[in-house]
Amino acid sequence: MLTTIDVMTKLREATTEHHKRAEGHRFQKSLVKGELPEAGYVAWLGQMLLVHRALEQELDALASRCPEVATVLGDDWRKEDRLLTDLVHFGASPLVTPNAATIGLIEQIREIGSCGRSLLGMFYVLEGSTNGGVFIARAVRHAYGLNGDGTRYLDPYGGMQRKRWAGFKARMADLDLSGSDADAMVAAAQSMFDGITAVSEDLATNAWSASV
Ligand code: HEM
Repeated sequence: MLTTIDVMTKLREATTEHHKRAEGHRFQKSLVKGELPEAGYVAWLGQMLLVHRALEQELDALASRCPEVATVLGDDWRKEDRLLTDLVHFGASPLVTPNAATIGLIEQIREIGSCGRSLLGMFYVLEGSTNGGVFIARAVRHAYGLNGDGTRYLDPYGGMQRKRWAGFKARMADLDLSGSDADAMVAAAQSMFDGITAVSEDLATNAWSASV
């Protein structure tokens, strides 16, 4: 059995290269440099809406049959409403068409969701992305002249960010996991990272991002 700290260390170490690829993708770089046209940012929000909706549906179903998953998630973990609020701020329709990479990632979410707690590995990636999201949100506010509205997804917790992340890590550490459970969680996290990188690639090939 692994301790809690072990699974979080394992997740971080086994996805370091995946994080580098996701963070280093030209689409993400242009976003953080404030060089991406606003339409690109809005398109990103739309695809993330679809990804979060699928993940959150699967997590809700899992949490209803697995109380320890509900405990790890805690309160106020969903991002779908924040994404909808951001889209409304930009006057964008919430009826988003999924790109090919988004469709592929949603299929993986559904598949991993049917396998139980390893889905938390996918959640780890998107929850962990709030750490960098704080910095990206600053760049986005500056680039598009925002005052907070429009970045509720990227920066969901404001001044509570570090506390929220520490709380999630501690609850993950309390899970009773075998080595193979942890391995499955790592594989799920790696799929989420790769899926998000593919979504970035799809977006980078759009007409408005010719400069990306
Ligand atoms: C320009 C893009 C990005 C930047 C600048 C960035 C930056 C960061 C930073 C500064 C941290 C905190 C490191 C620490 O305090 O230890 C972090 C953590 C993290 N980021 Fe990113 N990130 C970016 C993109 C992404 C993306 C696209 C994802 C996945 C969808 C992601 C997932 C994560 C995860 C899971 C962690 C937590 C790692 C851990 O401690 O276990 N990041 N990122």
